[in-house]
Amino acid sequence: MAPVLQEPVSLLLLPALQLPSTPASLKSSYRSTFEALLPKLIQPNTQTTSRLDVAIVLSPSYPVTPSISRTAIFPLIQTLLAQTYSLICSVGALTKVDLDFPGGLDALSGPIVDIQTFTSASRPYQTIYSVEGETAEAHLMSVITALQSRQGVIAPPVQRLPCGPAILHPGSTVSPYADDGPVEVHKSVAVGGTFDHLHIGHKLLLTATVLLAEPSAASSRDKTPRHITIGITGDALLVNKKYGSVVESWSTRQGRAAEFVESILVFHRDGDSIKKTEYINEPGPNGKVVRVTYGDDISINYTEIVDPFGPTITDENITALVISGETRAGGKAVNDRRKEKGWKELEVFEVDVLDAGVGLDESEMDNKQEKQSFESKISSTEIRRRLHEAQTNASE
Ligand SMILES: *[C@@H]1O[C@H](CO)[C@@H](O)[C@H](O)[C@H]1NC(C)=O
Ligand SMILES: *[C@@H]1O[C@H](CO)[C@@H](O)[C@H](O)[C@H]1NC(C)=O
Repeated sequence: MAPVLQEPVSLLLLPALQLPSTPASLKSSYRSTFEALLPKLIQPNTQTTSRLDVAIVLSPSYPVTPSISRTAIFPLIQTLLAQTYSLICSVGALTKVDLDFPGGLDALSGPIVDIQTFTSASRPYQTIYSVEGETAEAHLMSVITALQSRQGVIAPPVQRLPCGPAILHPGSTVSPYADDGPVEVHKSVAVGGTFDHLHIGHKLLLTATVLLAEPSAASSRDKTPRHITIGITGDALLVNKKYGSVVESWSTRQGRAAEFVESILVFHRDGDSIKKTEYINEPGPNGKVVRVTYGDDISINYTEIVDPFGPTITDENITALVISGETRAGGKAVNDRRKEKGWKELEVFEVDVLDAGVGLDESEMDNKQEKQSFESKISSTEIRRRLHEAQTNASE
């Protein structure tokens, strides 16, 4: 059944900069783009959250081909995602646009797909935003052409946004990714967290996890499905959190994580028909599990975790763990336990913490209000504090 109230969804096509690129270059190119765009998208004085899908169009300098594994390109793509999310978050702080808060904006960008696949998912975009310049114009045209080639689809209106000059790094020969021999391919990856009031930091973590799980290449004989395990802290472990009265329930947190993962993972003409959801309530080694599969290629376990380890020490088949800079210690603890069991250690992939320095100038960083506003967008506690205050005020 279609939801009754559709949130407005817009699409921004953003050309990735030539490699090697730096945070300064990203800011020079696209800060003005987001400054023009974010305030346009919000609907002041409503509780409606607008959604912005950001599609980053990779430049030819990204070594992304079907034969290169996700493991090999992970560092490069996670940097690109972390910097882009950091920039969006900084501009949100500057322009006073709320992210991930009722009445605010929900921005996301997905893992790698080609334009045909991307446009085959029938997403009803209200507007497509693009930036000025030849490269961007070419991308825009391929997206519009791909959309129009689908029967019955009318391409949405297009708006072009300003962008600044890229800072070039002539003569640099830095290899875009570390080439130190063959890498392991990961078919079963895990991530964990509370995912309370899903925010842009959680989204980065989930996007990186989805990115890492290796799809089966059409050409290869390996048809092992990808499996993603998302451990979500059980309610019992969260009762003592600050502003505990506004912690979301496990099923709400699971539902929002699942909705986000689906939006970045499933680009299919007929997404609903290939989707199967099972609710498994009998306690296994961990808590309850919501298991979602999309066709034969993807399965996801949203597993309730009742200790800091979850399925990473009960499922031997998991081979990789995605962590944020803040949960580094957790990765080591997991591997110590796996070693004790005689299991293979997980390869640990770290995702950058969002950095206000990507988008804010030094003087803005010194401005307490802007820095705080940035921090508040990536903190569940801060989001709960605001909700708690709003509730308290409403009941007075
Ligand atoms: C996912 O959860 C189900 C139900 O607990 C379990 O049987 C399965 O082993 C889990 N992992 C995978 C890879 O399917
Ligand atoms: C691990 O993989 C084996 C072989 O594919 C399978 O039989 C087993 O059920 C898997 N274990 C879990 C916990 O999913």
